Amino acid sequence: MPKLTIIYGTGSGNTGRMAKAIEEGARGAGLEVTINTVDTVTPADIENVDAIAIGSPTYIKAAMPSVINYVKAMADQPLNGKIGAAFGSYGWSGEAANVISKMLEGYEMDVIKPNLRIKRQPSDDGIEECKKLGNQIADKINK
Ligand SMILES: Cc1cc2nc3c(=O)[nH]c(=O)nc-3n(C[C@H](O)[C@H](O)[C@H](O)COP(=O)(O)O)c2cc1C
Repeated sequence: MPKLTIIYGTGSGNTGRMAKAIEEGARGAGLEVTINTVDTVTPADIENVDAIAIGSPTYIKAAMPSVINYVKAMADQPLNGKIGAAFGSYGWSGEAANVISKMLEGYEMDVIKPNLRIKRQPSDDGIEECKKLGNQIADKINK
């Protein structure tokens, strides 16, 4: 079964809600999914996966340092050609997902565009958008 791993940071839970909805969408589309916060993830979580989705909220015009450090550490793994996706909740400027997306592109991953940013707590529509991203990742793997 094709595999997706979702790794995220969240301060007040909004990016976490997005992550869980992406998981739901991806599982519904037939992917095997692991989901972890950045604090509990291990290098093994990105071994042997087809796609990696990374999420961070924006705090002070940046992604969470723990997420950035994890994405930097990913450089030790073979990532070329894997599918990537960046997502995150934001309040007004929303830099985090853009920064993550660029870092994943730097690893020559096949990054889904545009990245998924949702303002504050995801509404029902926002949750649907997240589920769709899960579906989209599955479609891209199956192509
Ligand atoms: C101290 C602080 C700084 C923030 N800085 C930004 C910012 O620079 N740009 C932005 O778009 N949102 C900013 N926000 C809003 C958060 O990104 C927003 O509340 C988001 O929903 C938090 O997601 P989380 O629940 O996953 O932590 C800030 C919030 C706090 C509390």
